Amino acid sequence: MTRAAVKACALDVAQPNPFALLLIRWQRHAGRSGLPWQNTRDPYLVWLSEVMLQQTQVSSVLSYYPRFLARCPDVQALARASSDEVMALWSGLGYYSRARNLHRCAQVVVDEHGGVFPRTAEALQTLPGIGASTAAAIAAFCYGERISILDGNVRRVLSRLLAFEGDLAQQGPQRELWALAQELLPQAPEPDDMTAYTQGLMDLGATVCLRSKPLCDRCPVQPLCQAHAIGQTQRFPVKSRRLVRRFENWWLLLGRDASAQAPRFWLERRPSSGIWAGLYCPPVYADEAALRAAVPAAMQDRLETLDAVAHSLTHRELRLHPLLLDVSPERAQHLPPGQWVGAADLEARGLPAPVKLLLQALSKTV
Ligand code: ADE
Repeated sequence: MTRAAVKACALDVAQPNPFALLLIRWQRHAGRSGLPWQNTRDPYLVWLSEVMLQQTQVSSVLSYYPRFLARCPDVQALARASSDEVMALWSGLGYYSRARNLHRCAQVVVDEHGGVFPRTAEALQTLPGIGASTAAAIAAFCYGERISILDGNVRRVLSRLLAFEGDLAQQGPQRELWALAQELLPQAPEPDDMTAYTQGLMDLGATVCLRSKPLCDRCPVQPLCQAHAIGQTQRFPVKSRRLVRRFENWWLLLGRDASAQAPRFWLERRPSSGIWAGLYCPPVYADEAALRAAVPAAMQDRLETLDAVAHSLTHRELRLHPLLLDVSPERAQHLPPGQWVGAADLEARGLPAPVKLLLQALSKTV
């Protein structure tokens, strides 16, 4: 059925590959063209944008990308930066393992590849944090390699185009769809064609072939779309396993030194794996009793319960319960291990976004 569908795409419009032709033509006149990471073949610039854009909206990346490049304009500068600095530049973008891998990848490129990114998707995939789809995007954009990306948006586009019945929660069907994606590529592309084609797939997924209400009337490949032809765009992609978020309560002990002109906060560095790995954060407890047990008896009545804050992660629905404790600097030794971080330094450290917001608000209320 699916290979036949690929063939059907080829037969319907009497062209060698109408899907690729229609997509490239549409991208060139209606797709996105002015994004800051477009119109370059520099693999550092493309790689950075692709990693930032994984699971993150373009609108969020637009402010982070230039700030990151101002501080780390090339792979050598990134390799030399401290991990604190990299985490601070990433603070608020989420999925912090991306930042750690980005830093390690820069160091591998500098130490083992003479500062030059490998030139094929296959070789790019061996680097930290570069998966198959990101490697394909870099190779297609920078080197014109004839290879298909397949991120979540593109899976949706292609599974609708082909009315692909395989369960994309399973690896077998995922591989099968990737093979079909390869068959849909332009036949003998110029490097610029691969750029327009790859960007076209991304643009179609992000702006037209939307998850809940696809804009089929605006779709350049609607005449080829099998799901549209049978009136079942909503049925694709087929996925048996849906994401279930676990609900968790986290209790945060916000130690604040309000004696100085600008307040300081008592933060610990989180463990190197797990949620918010390596970021600076107030000590976290599973319940209020555990938090109170970590505070000396003489300070208990100074704990002030603040409003809870909700925060969603991919697999967790967190409810943060902050308890504020104003402490004089000489009593900090009675707190759990940590260090003072001044309000003015919060920007320069990697902090989880909701924690940074909370602490910034608390710096103004002393
Ligand atoms: N998402 C992933 N890569 C992208 C790109 N190059 N442009 C826009 N959105 C993207």
